[in-house]
Amino acid sequence: KEFPKAFPKGFLWGGATAANQIEGAWNVADKGLTTAEVVKKAKNHADITLSSVSDESIQEAINDHSTKNYPKRRGIDFYDHYKEDIKLFAEMGFKAFRLSIAWARIFPQGDEAEPNEAGLKFYDDVFDELAKYGIEPVVTLSHYEMPLGLTLKQNGWESRATIDNFLRFTKVVFSRYRTKVKYWMTFNEINAATWGFVGTGAVDTDKTTEEQLQIRYQSVHHQFVASALAVKQGHEINSNFKIGSMLARGVSYPKTSNPVDVRAAQVVDQQNLFFTDIQVRGEYPEYMNRYFAEHNIVIEMNEDDEQILKEGTVDYLSFSYYMSNVTSASGKADGAGNMILGEQNPYLETSDWGWQIDPIGLRITLNELWDRYRVPLFVVENGLGAHDELEADGHVHDSYRIDYLKRHIEQMKEAIEDGVDLMGYTMWGPIDLISASTSEMSKRYGFIYVDQDDDGNGSLKRIRKDSFEWYKKVLESNGEDL
Ligand code: BG6
Repeated sequence: KEFPKAFPKGFLWGGATAANQIEGAWNVADKGLTTAEVVKKAKNHADITLSSVSDESIQEAINDHSTKNYPKRRGIDFYDHYKEDIKLFAEMGFKAFRLSIAWARIFPQGDEAEPNEAGLKFYDDVFDELAKYGIEPVVTLSHYEMPLGLTLKQNGWESRATIDNFLRFTKVVFSRYRTKVKYWMTFNEINAATWGFVGTGAVDTDKTTEEQLQIRYQSVHHQFVASALAVKQGHEINSNFKIGSMLARGVSYPKTSNPVDVRAAQVVDQQNLFFTDIQVRGEYPEYMNRYFAEHNIVIEMNEDDEQILKEGTVDYLSFSYYMSNVTSASGKADGAGNMILGEQNPYLETSDWGWQIDPIGLRITLNELWDRYRVPLFVVENGLGAHDELEADGHVHDSYRIDYLKRHIEQMKEAIEDGVDLMGYTMWGPIDLISASTSEMSKRYGFIYVDQDDDGNGSLKRIRKDSFEWYKKVLESNGEDL
């Protein structure tokens, strides 16, 4: 029997970003302050600032009107450079560009009756610019941020009222960009909601771990309902919309063949897949009922919530893939990652930030997700954060990045040959941007170098790295010439 031997025609090759990591222009055109813009920059590489926000640090941030300590306020000034940046993406042959809409540009505090026209206009301009080059926008409705007003007023997703705030926002953008955007996803890395500030408000350190878990799981329940209702709403506005979910996938390997380790890895895996079990299959999986009971977590639901989840399943499943993890029954997490922590794998190399590089894990992940869900898959993040040096010859010779991406693309092709239905690949950070977890600039992912340091000094000049020409060649050959 025949099997697919190449990337399909129309494969969505491109790159992925998020508003708060690129846009800058944090206080112009009536935009409100976002949760991302009160997160301080890291003191060192291991300092994940995203999850360590307190009520005091939010107040301090509100009183500080500078961008110095808050890099997500400045991004790489895509707001004023978008034409130049999109031109460079087009030069590489991008078919798709993933970006997010900053909710607080459209609803500055999150609860206004009317949207902010200046914010809507900005994304019109960006989508029109992409259309000039035939680049499909892939839009994340909420990527690790929300209007800070909603956090201060109702602790964000902890409150059920946030569902209505979100749906007012999605209705506006679905309607406004009805003909300009086809591919959407609701929440970036929905599983991050249980990690910390990205999902709700500040981490309340006075509360016990179980009390905190209660808040996080209740909050993410509200996000599930909001996402399902948004899927339904979007399809009513345009039945051609493809609306997906987005998971930070962390495949977990057992440390040994001892069944207790295998079982431990299975539990970690279930904790990860629980989110897509709901968003793709439309119901809470049984294993979580036991987990909730054992941790005294009670999810408050409205009568029709289960029906809403059933009716609002997604059209496709997108995910980020950076690394794999190792789990043992007795071990403790000593590995590093974008908050998915596991143990060290002696067979794998690590990035400058200690993330374990595992291209074959991507093939495994694609096969597992396809087997479990049978919906089209979309790799919407994968990439290498590294210390790039601008050499005396004015170039960045990033052969290590080419090597990383090449090895992952090879495994994606293997997965396609295995029969996986894969829609596209938007690598993370085609242009250097502010890191999500540490807010560093010096953790660079791009094909395009941006002249800016961790303190925000620099000309913001864009410079093509060696990987730029390489990716161009990959796209020209639809993934054949690696
Ligand atoms: C993902 C996020 O977790 O990883 C992105 O969706 C993020 O926003 C990416 O940038 C890489 O993580 P980091 O911390 O290196 O920027």
